[in-house]
Order: sequence, then C-alpha cells, then structure tokens
Amino acid sequence: MVVDDSLELGVLYRRYLEELGFQVSMASNGEMAIEKVLSESPEAVLLDLMLPDISGREVLKRIREINEDIAVIIMTGYGGEEVAVDLMKAGAADYLSKPFIIDSLSKSLREVLKIRDSQIEDKKHVGFSSLEKFFPFLAHEIRNPLHAIGGALAIIQRRCDLRDELLSRSFKIIQEEVQHLNDFVQECLDFVRPLAKDRFIEVEINEVISVVINIISHIFEERCRKIRIKTDLDPQLPKVCGNYEEMKGAFLNILKNSFEAIEEEGEIKIKTGFNPDPYPGNVEILFTDDGVGIKKENLNYLFSPFYTSKVKGTGLGLAICRRIVMERHSGKIQVASKEGKGTTVKVELPIGPPQEVLGGQKK
Ligand SMILES: Nc1ncnc2c1ncn2[C@@H]1O[C@H](COP(=O)(O)OP(=O)(O)OP(=O)(O)O)[C@@H](O)[C@H]1O
Ligand SMILES: [Mg+2]
Repeated sequence: MVVDDSLELGVLYRRYLEELGFQVSMASNGEMAIEKVLSESPEAVLLDLMLPDISGREVLKRIREINEDIAVIIMTGYGGEEVAVDLMKAGAADYLSKPFIIDSLSKSLREVLKIRDSQIEDKKHVGFSSLEKFFPFLAHEIRNPLHAIGGALAIIQRRCDLRDELLSRSFKIIQEEVQHLNDFVQECLDFVRPLAKDRFIEVEINEVISVVINIISHIFEERCRKIRIKTDLDPQLPKVCGNYEEMKGAFLNILKNSFEAIEEEGEIKIKTGFNPDPYPGNVEILFTDDGVGIKKENLNYLFSPFYTSKVKGTGLGLAICRRIVMERHSGKIQVASKEGKGTTVKVELPIGPPQEVLGGQKK
C-alpha cells in the first residue's frame, strides 16, 4: 500500500510497482491508511511521513499495533535521515530519502518482504518447536498419575457395593473423566508427532470415507439413529498419493465435528469429486452438515490450536486436520458456514506422483 498525499507521486509509485507484479492500493492520508490496513492487511506499506491529518510517526505506531508483520518503509524529505533512524527503532523496516531513484524502491521492497517472510516463518517455528517439547513432557506428567488413578479405582470398585446407585454413578464419572484426559493427552501428542514420511501410498479416498463412516457410526451409535449420513461418491475418482492413516484421522475429526454440531436430528452429506484444474488436478471432498453452524466472527479461529466452543473439546481437531491436509499432502482445507443453517468443510488433495506431493510438504 502506498500512503502519500501527493497524488502524482502516489500514482507514479503505483504504476511502477504494478509493472513489477505487485498489487497496490493507495491512501492519501493517515486515517485512510489505517482503515485500509485494517481491511486489506497489506504485506508492506510505503509511508510518507508528511501527511495532512496525522503524522507518519503516529500512522507507523498504529500499523504496528494492528499487525506487527506488516513491513513499513518510510519516505522522508531531504535531510530526514535522523528521523528515519529514529523511526526504524520504532519498527519501520527501511527508509528512502526523497527524492530517490525509483529502482531503489523495488530493491528496498523486495528486501523488507524477504525479511518479513523469514520472520513469520521463524515465529511459526518457535511456537511449534516449543509445543513439540512441551506436549511429550505434559503427556508423561499426566499419564502416570492417570494410570495410577485408573488402577486404584478398579481396586475400589471390586471391593465396593455397586448396587449403591450414587457410588456407581460416581465411579462412572471418574472413569469418563480419566478417559477424557487420556484422549486429550493423545490428541496433544498426535498434534506434535512427526508425521511418518515414508508411508505414502496410493489411497482410494472413497474407501477411506467408507471406513471412516463405519468407525463414526460406532462412536456415535446412539445418535446415528437420528442422524442420516448420505454419500455421493464419484466412482471415477483418481487415487491420491498419501498417508492412509493420516487421511482417515483428518476425515474422522471433520465428521466428529459434524455429529457434535447436530443437536437432535440432522443430515450429513459426504461428496467426492475430481477437479482437473489446475493440472494435474485435485480430489475434492465435501462434508456438509445441517447443524448449528458457526458465527461469522469465529470462522477465523477454527484452525488455531485450542480454539473450541465445546465444554469438553480440546480444540485440536481442525488444527490437526490442517497439518495433515496442508503440510503433509500439499492440499487445502476450507470451512464455510452459516449460523443456524450448517457447515461445509471442503478438503482438496492434489493427485500426482509421490515426489511432487512430498516435495510440496518439505517447503
Ligand atoms: N461442523 C461444524 N459445525 C459447527 N461448528 C464447528 C464444526 N466444525 C468445527 N466447528 C467449530 O470449530 C471449533 C474447533 O473445532 P476442532 O475440531 O478444532 O475442536 P473441537 O471439536 O472443539 O475439539 P476436539 O476436536 O479437539 O475434540 C469447534 O469447537 C466448533 O466451534
Ligand atoms: Mg473437533
């Protein structure tokens, strides 16, 4: 985004950057710039310090508060180096002293975008590696006492009069909660487990769907009477090169969410199809339910680890799905939903030789 109150200069920068392949939007004052940063989340902002309404310094501060990943290049007037250095301390990525040679703009922009990308990548890595260390530690610390609790409970159960209804109900609660904690620990471990790279085979997605429906029908045995599962599976579906167990896990998580979203009665549709574009094409799987749906403002958080709206949810289900689909299989996963109407989860998995798929996830 170019922020300059001089229309001529703004247009000049825009044309130049568009010719280089950038998508450029413009703002002629500070307020407009901030509004656009909020609505468009640009990757970089080229910011003139002399603006008619608020100071460039203030705009920089607000941009940093909104999104610290936006790279801001300051444009100063002649002799403004001191100010520029000061602003770099306040978070600007680079500065250009006006008048500058137009080529130095593209050089600076490419440079700051490169730094920005690697910083974002680093951040991801830091978060992930610390979870990778933390979860196994957590699992160890929780599982041992849980094991002991389970064992002690079994002894007490054997010695107690289970005809006492209150006692037997209390036992059941403890058992269920122990199971819940065990499942939680397992999900945390699954989330950070290095996914097995060597187990890529040709997978028939329709077959995975059938297996998953079978499993889910057992998990939700009672509820299955009121929830219909309809399938529309393309018999010509090409095979996908992937990890069978991981795909099964991802589809199970999605279907589990559909079941949990339906309060009483409802329907879940599963449709598979092939989309040849872009070459060599994608297998698409759509999971649609007519459950409670998702509030628009929550759609952005669905894939964040630990985001949950459920009392007993861990919020890892979709985060794991995303890892499996995107990082492991170079695919895509998207959720569309309307509150009160239902939700559709779309998974796209590229077909193609294993090297390509593996190459994609190594990035
Ligand atoms: N089909 C759906 N319908 C309505 N809301 C959904 C659906 N799928 C996901 N969500 C929303 O997304 C949130 C995150 O889902 P996710 O699977 O990651 O975690 P969870 O289901 O809450 O817990 P977990 O899967 O770990 O048991 C859910 O809590 C729910 O609010
Ligand atoms: Mg879930």
